[in-house]
Amino acid sequence: MSHTDSQPRNILVTSALPYANGSLHLGHILEYIQTDIWARFQRARGNQCLYMCADDAHGTAIMLKAEQLGLTPEQHIANMQAEHERDFADFLIGVDNYHSTHSAENRELSAMIYKRLRENGHIASRTITQAFDPEKELFLADRYIKGTCPKCKAEDQYGDNCEVCGATYSPTELINPVSAISGATPIEKESEHFFFTLPAFTDFLKQWTRSGTLQSEVANKLSEWLDDGLQEWDISRDAPYFGFEIPDAPGKYFYVWLDAPIGYMASLKNYFDKKCDANSQDWQEYWKKDSTAEVYHFIGKDIVNFHALFWPAMLDSAEFRTPTKVCVHGFLTVNGKKMSKSRGTFINARNYLDNLNPEYLRYYFAAKLTAGVDDLDLNLEDFIAKVNSDLVGKVVNIASRTAKFVSKSGGALASELADEALWSQFVEAAPRITEFFEAREYSRATREIMALADAANAWIAEKAPWSLAKEEGKEDEVLAICSQGVNMFRALITWLAPVLPETAKKAEEFLGVSLDWKSATVPLAGHTINKFKPLMQRVEKAQVEAMQEAAKESLAQLQAETKAASGPLADDPLAEQIEFDDFAKVDLRIALIANAEHVEGAGKLLRLTLDLGGETRNVFAGIKSAYSPEDLIGKHTVMVANLAPRKMRFGVSEGMVLAAGPGGKDLWILEPHEGAQPGMRVM
Ligand code: MSP
Ligand code: ZN
Repeated sequence: MSHTDSQPRNILVTSALPYANGSLHLGHILEYIQTDIWARFQRARGNQCLYMCADDAHGTAIMLKAEQLGLTPEQHIANMQAEHERDFADFLIGVDNYHSTHSAENRELSAMIYKRLRENGHIASRTITQAFDPEKELFLADRYIKGTCPKCKAEDQYGDNCEVCGATYSPTELINPVSAISGATPIEKESEHFFFTLPAFTDFLKQWTRSGTLQSEVANKLSEWLDDGLQEWDISRDAPYFGFEIPDAPGKYFYVWLDAPIGYMASLKNYFDKKCDANSQDWQEYWKKDSTAEVYHFIGKDIVNFHALFWPAMLDSAEFRTPTKVCVHGFLTVNGKKMSKSRGTFINARNYLDNLNPEYLRYYFAAKLTAGVDDLDLNLEDFIAKVNSDLVGKVVNIASRTAKFVSKSGGALASELADEALWSQFVEAAPRITEFFEAREYSRATREIMALADAANAWIAEKAPWSLAKEEGKEDEVLAICSQGVNMFRALITWLAPVLPETAKKAEEFLGVSLDWKSATVPLAGHTINKFKPLMQRVEKAQVEAMQEAAKESLAQLQAETKAASGPLADDPLAEQIEFDDFAKVDLRIALIANAEHVEGAGKLLRLTLDLGGETRNVFAGIKSAYSPEDLIGKHTVMVANLAPRKMRFGVSEGMVLAAGPGGKDLWILEPHEGAQPGMRVM
């Protein structure tokens, strides 16, 4: 498809809705930056482009997490959404609306779509048998069942695959299966489920997936699945479940993945309801069957089946249009390794933002992103080198070397170009750069831009206006060279504006014009510019190191919180044996809780001041779900007194108190009997 026609396009773009379960990490941010660059590029081209996102708020995991935190699911998802929205804003991700799948709009649209599927004969129902936790009274998805691997006998393996030998199996084959939530032995239980009749859409999907909607590698993968035959899709879950109850089916809820993509529509509906009037029908202009608008979904490769099979089939049945394109990206690795909590390569959005300028990462990702599904590596050394060399050393340098001479001669740019041939390189590159952005080949676009920056810098170095400026009678020549320098900078920053929105804004102030894609290579002649101010600082290694430290710290904190408030099986059920000497190393002491208080921003922690009989310690304890501070003050408890101090986000924790229980509200600190005085050793 060529987009050279001047008619503005009407485009809706979305990013996959992050789970309202935890913080965003740099993998999420890769996707959101990819989407945002594309949306900003479309707007810069004069197209109408709305970018919608939301939190994906439903499901068992979110329900359990809220319970663990001692919050209602509604409170928990509200906190997460606020955090996610802050991360989006601070990474300069310019969504037009950020909503939630747990919203009135999504409830209404999900019910409407479900009813249409049912009327069209695409909902089946039958009774299935599933593992059930008799203690928690909850059906257990495979990942909530643990036991011994039937093949290699490794203990503590999840319900569907063994991490030790790689075997896959069904949870009923596990030896000694237990519920990972309560530790109870699961029983088999029957229940009625609803299914979406996906096989009825086989022909439709074979055609749809080959109609230019997908990258070819994605379409090829899907055609394997399509050839193997599709299964009906289980779209219901039994109570208790955090989600929407299914119309006419009390106690049955939509599976989170049914209403999640409908969240794209709901976010748009909410946007128009707020912007125009409640119940505006404008959202339909994008989604109705004969819509002339374009719909682009940006997603990661792990959720292709939901977006390229289930979703288009649902839309087709419910008489809506299907997406123009589903744009799939690969996964982010850090220093060549999968982002993983255990490897310490897990970097939260906030860890980055607390230490580094968001535009550095936006540029680095742009410089590496292609339209393919290959994984993308954030190599931190390369990151520092590339940002400093390309942005500071090449692009910004063009302006900082030339602008001052223009200002010295009064600030007005020359009326003619100094080097037409060089300028024509810019003119020729312009349509290629545009096409690369359109095709999500950002790395090729940035390569073109940097090649031009190199040419510009080499030319300026050769002309050496700073030397000419010292000679008599060369004023016009200096102005001509430097004016072309400023014009070349303007073209480059116009093309980089979707990637670097803040720097682009500063450049507009300095240039005294609005950047405009169409006239990027029409030189500003005779135009007066403003005084140049530094546009961007270099990245320092220390900043990257500070981010890595912060990442380790938040991970340790997350683990401490989870440990303090998790069920019996979240950690190893039985500790390995230790020698007496090992035990003797642990200095257990009686402590008086002299003070206890809330810690702002910490979901689970209380700050305790512990009196050891003369010495006091500051300890952060993950017991907020079970105790109010006032209940603790004055109590005696047991602490590990010789634990190495740990620096946390809120301060240094100098020890640990002992507590028992499954977690949540059921957690009890150890309380020694009278006679045990602060400071006494526990043997
Ligand atoms: N809630 C679902 C999406 C519902 S869309 C109707 C979900 N959420 S997620 O939080 O797990 O992931 C959100 C997006 O981030 C997905 O597109 C996912 O592929 C992407 N990424 C998650 N980790 C990633 C990396 N490490 N690297 C790149 N993208 C990654 O899935
Ligand atoms: Zn095994």
